[in-house]
Amino acid sequence: MSGASGGIVVLVSGRGSNLQAIIDAVHDGRLPADIHAVISSEPGTPAMARARTAGIPNHVVNHRDFPARELFDQALIQRVDSYEPRLVVLAGFMRILSESFINHYSGRLINIHPSLLPDFPGLNTHARALQSGAKSHGASVHFVTPEVDGGPVIIQSAVPVLPDDTPEILAERVLTEEHRIYPLAIRWFLDGRLSVEGGRVLLDGEQRPEQGLDRQIITHNDSPETG
Ligand code: GAR
Repeated sequence: MSGASGGIVVLVSGRGSNLQAIIDAVHDGRLPADIHAVISSEPGTPAMARARTAGIPNHVVNHRDFPARELFDQALIQRVDSYEPRLVVLAGFMRILSESFINHYSGRLINIHPSLLPDFPGLNTHARALQSGAKSHGASVHFVTPEVDGGPVIIQSAVPVLPDDTPEILAERVLTEEHRIYPLAIRWFLDGRLSVEGGRVLLDGEQRPEQGLDRQIITHNDSPETG
């Protein structure tokens, strides 16, 4: 898997559908990147099977093997750094990372989160969106900072919340968007098109419509402007 734009390491914990979307984007040429390695915090995950099938080096750094978060994070740093990635990609990585880990990769650590941040940080986002009466929901890719799910947003995609939605149905609709926007955000980063100014992520030096960030000014009690 070779590409001109640079290497990434993907950190996972479970199903790995976002990892698969990234692998597929590399394979079909939408994302010129090298996936140097996939590292899982859990053994025996579907994500690891996906990495093996794609022929990508893969490792487990099992958080249960470490008595403290800091020690786990140090082991993870060692493993990640051995691949010298330009960008570290969290794709369904479900461990909270320590400040020293996050600072080590400052400006080159990104995450995907299943909500329109800053709405619904944390877990169970789809059920919480339904409970809140939100008319739209979605996914965000953001730079990781020590504030959980709080870093500058690179791209968002919104989906409607429909009357008969369950958390599972809504999650599927959001996931389709996750798979679309994550490879795009990685490509923008590797192409050197992203910068952060005053806490905002700029694409080619300005905030552009394709980032979908105008949605950020809509609270979940407002009507989406597209109806
Ligand atoms: C995705 O929906 C991702 O956005 C979410 O976990 C799922 C992982 O699915 N991440 C978070 O909630 C992080 N806060 P996947 O393993 O199939 O990519």
